[in-house]
Amino acid sequence: MKHVATAHSNIALVKYWGKRDHGANLPAAGSFSATLGDLTTTTSVEPIEGDADRVTLDGEEDTSGRLSRFLDLLRDRADRRTALHVETSNDFPTAAGLASSASGFAALTLAATRALGLELDERELTRLARRGSGSAARSLHGGWVEVVPTDDAYAVRVAEAGHWDLRCVVFLTAEGSKKVGSTDGMNHTVATSNYFDAWVDSVPADIEAAKQAVLARDLERLATVAERSCLRMHASALAADPGVLYWNGATVELIHRVREARSSGLPAFFTIDAGPHVKVFCPADAVPGVEALGEGVSNGVILSSIGGAAEVDEVAE
Ligand code: PMV
Repeated sequence: MKHVATAHSNIALVKYWGKRDHGANLPAAGSFSATLGDLTTTTSVEPIEGDADRVTLDGEEDTSGRLSRFLDLLRDRADRRTALHVETSNDFPTAAGLASSASGFAALTLAATRALGLELDERELTRLARRGSGSAARSLHGGWVEVVPTDDAYAVRVAEAGHWDLRCVVFLTAEGSKKVGSTDGMNHTVATSNYFDAWVDSVPADIEAAKQAVLARDLERLATVAERSCLRMHASALAADPGVLYWNGATVELIHRVREARSSGLPAFFTIDAGPHVKVFCPADAVPGVEALGEGVSNGVILSSIGGAAEVDEVAE
């Protein structure tokens, strides 16, 4: 029996940047995100004979062992040693700062726990997904999602996808994989940035403000918090030694264009993760105006609505 799960990527509006425990992959603070319904990972998992997992990522065999190590956690939980065949694919560029690890580990958690016979509630699933990638906890839920940074941090839905019909315009500003992965970038920030503590201290108030802005559907307030959180996260990374700089010239140009457009009345704001791409949130009727901002600087655009929760089905062979 094969289990097939889908999960959507998500973009943090209040960022997660820094771990307080590596083994349990615990975030130093909470975070708050929107799930992106049009950026999807599909993952199938089925038990196989033998002791070794077989893992295929976007059609290519994966020998890194990262997914098998994560599956070991799930096998321990299920108290079963079953080897698994995992096939996973993204309908968007992998490892380019578009949170493919978020949707990837969320889909894998859902499909593999089912394949191993585990019946877990949503909160437990988000805790397990967090062990694969911090942002993956958020991708199990749809809509607007918060990570609660307890000693076993988990994700909860703050509002469902239909609560506020914003769109996300992703401007791709470079090709290929990012140069410094998020884990390396944040670990280096924790170890060497003297802005890191100030960054962590700023997060709880930003989460509260972002939640209130979303619940009130107040774009101007959400814009203020999301841009502030993004710039502070990058400031903490820039202040590491040596500084980590994820942006290219197009990233900076787009920041200026979005801010100028907003001050001229276009309801839109930017956020940027551990890569050079710029994600702009806006209402549906502002999408053409936002897309026009990429002229001459962007290599491509991906458009997404706010998406729903991860799902799993059993598929007979
Ligand atoms: O989930 P990770 O380990 O790939 O880290 C995600 C880090 C950021 O994308 C930069 C911020 C976030 O909260 O998603």
